[in-house]
Amino acid sequence: MGRLIVRPELFSGEVPVTKPILTVLLEVRARMHFSCRRGLCGQDLIRIVSGWEHLNAIGELEAGTLELLQVKGQPMRMACCAKVIGDGEVVIEVV
Ligand code: FES
Repeated sequence: MGRLIVRPELFSGEVPVTKPILTVLLEVRARMHFSCRRGLCGQDLIRIVSGWEHLNAIGELEAGTLELLQVKGQPMRMACCAKVIGDGEVVIEVV
């Protein structure tokens, strides 16, 4: 199980690989906008502070949305699509 840290001090703990980061954020009542949960609407952008290598790969729909938002190539993901994989630690910020 990987570890997720959400800044500023919203959450710190282990998360199963099956749980999208958006679900974790909603469970801790982070102020998040979201709609589609499929990487299409672009509302739940998060910044990856560290641990990018411990995230699942970006899928086609999410990649297209990141490009539309002009953040492709930056350490940004859609929270609904990003999951912590392996045993690593990922630090994020809600944008
Ligand atoms: S909820 Fe729509 S892109 Fe994540």
